Amino acid sequence: MPPFTKRLENLPSTLWSKITQIEELKGRWISGAKLNPQVLGRLKKSVLVTSTGASTRIEGARLSDEDVEKLMRGLSVQKFADRDKQEAQGYYELLKNVFEFWQAIPFSESTIKHFHKELLKYVEKDKLHRGQYKHSENKVHMIDEAGKSVGVLFDTTPAYLTPKETLELVEATEAAAKDKTIHPLLIIGNFLVEFLLIHPFQDGNGRLSRIMTNLLLLKHGYEYVPYVSHEKLVEDNKADYYLALRRSQKTLRGKAPNLVPWLEFFLSVVHKQSEEAVGLLSSENIERILSPKQMDVWRYLQTAVEVTPAQISQGAGVARPTVNQVLDKLLKLKKIDAKPGTKFDPDLHEAILFDENAEGEHEVIADEMPTGYTLNGRPIRHSMVKVTRK
Ligand SMILES: Nc1ncnc2c1ncn2[C@@H]1O[C@H](COP(=O)(O)OP(=O)(O)O)[C@@H](O)[C@H]1O
Ligand SMILES: [Mg+2]
Repeated sequence: MPPFTKRLENLPSTLWSKITQIEELKGRWISGAKLNPQVLGRLKKSVLVTSTGASTRIEGARLSDEDVEKLMRGLSVQKFADRDKQEAQGYYELLKNVFEFWQAIPFSESTIKHFHKELLKYVEKDKLHRGQYKHSENKVHMIDEAGKSVGVLFDTTPAYLTPKETLELVEATEAAAKDKTIHPLLIIGNFLVEFLLIHPFQDGNGRLSRIMTNLLLLKHGYEYVPYVSHEKLVEDNKADYYLALRRSQKTLRGKAPNLVPWLEFFLSVVHKQSEEAVGLLSSENIERILSPKQMDVWRYLQTAVEVTPAQISQGAGVARPTVNQVLDKLLKLKKIDAKPGTKFDPDLHEAILFDENAEGEHEVIADEMPTGYTLNGRPIRHSMVKVTRK
């Protein structure tokens, strides 16, 4: 039994309904019409900027998304401290690697340490502790507007216990993922709140935890993660984020750990993220889904009354395979219907075979051959069918 099974038992039904909804949206992303590669590339670039801006701002940097974007284009952004720029550069590059290579990156202790090193690669002040667990105690302070401490918020794991606790957490998380009795979203949520309570590094724990969120979600099949910023949703709800963390964290070392406040927050962010991702695939967003060549087919279809794929190909001036791809995508978007009716309808079906021996009053379809399509009720291509009598 994975070590944290107990604390994840008897969760309220509201959490389970969130999980069910997230899974349903994940299914829709996977089986839905795919966005076109140019659009995916653009979205990914913009998420890298947004997530970098949001994640570093949560921890006190002051760069706007526009500043981050300029910085990444190599333009100098004079008005900000070097530290802010160094932090943004590290976050951006690391997240980019996660988006590109998540399949090849193992979830392990050495990945965590390596990520920490990469995250702070450019930050002068963190030079001495990059990639290494804390050597002295680090309390989480509440800070005022001016950045001065106004009190200790919570005690983290002492430095001498940090390697042991972090390794145990990583191993338990891995074991739970393999075991598959606990839902992956609960395993990830549990990892994050524990990681932040241990606070394994002198600095950078918050940012690193959000990079790990991206990696873990991707590795568990939430593949829309690079196209809608998780970090931005956290930033927009920063007060709730901290509150939820504190509420769960103060119970974690006691007799009755309560993960519910944190899981409610975490799942609500993932839920919003999945909704936005699926929203990208909606049929109103047709130009995001079709490539320019495919758009030519779509435009042609709207002017055509009754056509076959060969005619579409000729009329729109695009190759047959592209026509087939478009029809497939339009079908998923429900922009066209595939209608192999049961009653033979010469308007919709093209009978290519008749069952000569059959007797009966009605002509019905015996076998369906390739699918036909209708656009706004008019056939684009007839279903080719074999007709028999009943
Ligand atoms: N007010 C707060 N309430 C709860 N948790 C907090 C609060 N302030 C900081 N933390 C925790 O500490 C993390 C920041 O730790 P830190 O090591 O400084 O990371 P970073 O350098 O990325 O900011 C936050 O992401 C959060 O988990
Ligand atoms: Mg910090």
